[in-house]
Amino acid sequence: MRDLLKRFVFPKYRGRVIVGVLCKIVEVIFDLLTPIIVARMIDVGVTGHDTGVVTHLGVLLMVFAVIGYCFTLVCQKMAALVSQGSGTDVRNALFEKVYELSSADVDDFGIPSLVTRITNDVNQVQVTVALGIRQLIRWPILAVGSMVAALLIDLKLGLVFLVCTPIIGLVFWYVMTQSVPFFKSMQSKLDQVSLVTREALSGIRVIRAFGRGGHETERFREAAEDQTATAIAVGKLSAVLNPAIFLVMNLGVVTILWVGGGRVNVGELTQGEIVAFVNYMTQTLLSVVYVANLVVTFTRGAASASRVMEVLDRTATISDEGNEPVKLSEGSSEVALTLDHVSFAYEGSEVDAVSDVTLDLGIGQTIGIIGGTGSGKSTLVSLVPRLYDVTSGAVRVFGSDVRRYPLDQLRAIVATVPQQACLVSGTIRENLCWRNADASDDELWEALTRAQAADFVREKPDGLDALVEAGGKNFSGGQRQRLTIARALVGHPKIVILDDSASALDFATDAHLRQALHDLRSELTTIVVSQRVSAVMSADQVLVLDHGSVAGLGPHRSLVRSCPLYREICLSQLKPEEVDV
Ligand SMILES: Nc1ncnc2c1ncn2[C@@H]1O[C@H](COP(=O)(O)OP(=O)(O)OP(=O)(O)O)[C@@H](O)[C@H]1O
Ligand SMILES: [Mg+2]
Repeated sequence: MRDLLKRFVFPKYRGRVIVGVLCKIVEVIFDLLTPIIVARMIDVGVTGHDTGVVTHLGVLLMVFAVIGYCFTLVCQKMAALVSQGSGTDVRNALFEKVYELSSADVDDFGIPSLVTRITNDVNQVQVTVALGIRQLIRWPILAVGSMVAALLIDLKLGLVFLVCTPIIGLVFWYVMTQSVPFFKSMQSKLDQVSLVTREALSGIRVIRAFGRGGHETERFREAAEDQTATAIAVGKLSAVLNPAIFLVMNLGVVTILWVGGGRVNVGELTQGEIVAFVNYMTQTLLSVVYVANLVVTFTRGAASASRVMEVLDRTATISDEGNEPVKLSEGSSEVALTLDHVSFAYEGSEVDAVSDVTLDLGIGQTIGIIGGTGSGKSTLVSLVPRLYDVTSGAVRVFGSDVRRYPLDQLRAIVATVPQQACLVSGTIRENLCWRNADASDDELWEALTRAQAADFVREKPDGLDALVEAGGKNFSGGQRQRLTIARALVGHPKIVILDDSASALDFATDAHLRQALHDLRSELTTIVVSQRVSAVMSADQVLVLDHGSVAGLGPHRSLVRSCPLYREICLSQLKPEEVDV
């Protein structure tokens, strides 16, 4: 919590925090003065039948109330400004950080947990910051102030305090020690609820199609009930807290009235003093209750703050710090991409997802990568734009290790079309301009034409400015794929990676796309990942992956003869006469 405050609250909002806290202190002072004035009203005004004093002091009380109220308003306003402002800052920082982190780091946290951290945990922190400004000062001052004021009125009656306060402290201590362990598990159970929700909602169409809705509903119910059970357990404990404290407090009041009544009779105390004393005592004990609640909120806030800071403090495992732009002089390298004994294992996995892959891809050439599902195709191509770093070996682009490039430069050279087409809400133009924000209409249309997307975009009344809904759901799967291919071609990349990006295209469109990319070969080197032999057989080389290892590498013609696995894949998809060209 302290780190978060130091980083996000104090530097930017120090002035507002101070104003807020000062206003609160003024408000508390007025609160502390009120019982004394009421006591005077009773002793001088009521007992002495002096209506003038009653009216004067009444007006004074009203003035106090109004002034106090004004200060409260200012304090609330400051608290809202600081908590909302710093909350937004934290959220923005988290978001920015997530994009700085490598894919491996993001995998490590898990998307649902990151979502909970950016939303729920930041909310929790906001509540804590606001409460900190509004209440943290108020209740302790009020508690101590009231206690001192009460003891000043009468020391002996103060003994009641000495008995009540430790009892309340004890009750509070019991409830706290019992409920704090629950808070942490509550937050991680919330992660679980959000994980199930996310999976079930993002896959709703598939889940429906497979008739698994009931199963998912059951899974959600289990996660939600688990979280509810914990919340109820905590609730039950908290439910004990307030009644127990009020019981102790009211017994204290009864004792004071009982003992104090006798002392008033013998003239040691006035009626007003007893009223003031009871007021101070209830104020003190109520303050203790509030402080207790504050401790609860702060414990939760601190747990959330540490989850937030965990993300912010994570150093990205992939960094380009200190990398100078690599000079790509013409003709210095004939090879666009080199994989030099490349192996990669995902964090926490014992087996290599890719192991010992070596190949050279000449400038302007095309390589097709084929293999069964899970054979490591996507993993291998994700090493080129450095979404992950190799575990051993090296990936070189135009002769230089990818780890020597500034990431911006590397990703300008290498354009990736991921397996999952990703479109965001906005316009087609906005979705196309990711790699070059200033791309001209001509450039966009050229990319669309090559990606075989120009026709359906032209049919839209708004053309390039046609709306794209969240996730591109107003486009078909094949249209989405073609738009993401067009996006990759904007900004003139030198290497383009198509990860199964034409899987939803019909054979004719797929062939046109391949031809269009082939026409660009003077400036573009292409990596095509596909499950279809037809998509890779015309490539200059074909890489056959099997459980992450190279099962075959070479042009189609020779592979058909030398690689049994490739031959098998070919025969399963093509007629024998098409295989042996
Ligand atoms: N983020 C990840 N974390 C851990 N393991 C992963 C991750 N992504 C993939 N894997 C594992 O790595 C292996 C290779 O996966 P990869 O996605 O590269 O296969 P693929 O050949 O692209 O399959 P497909 O044809 O289905 O797309 C698989 O065994 C998979 O379980
Ligand atoms: Mg894949």
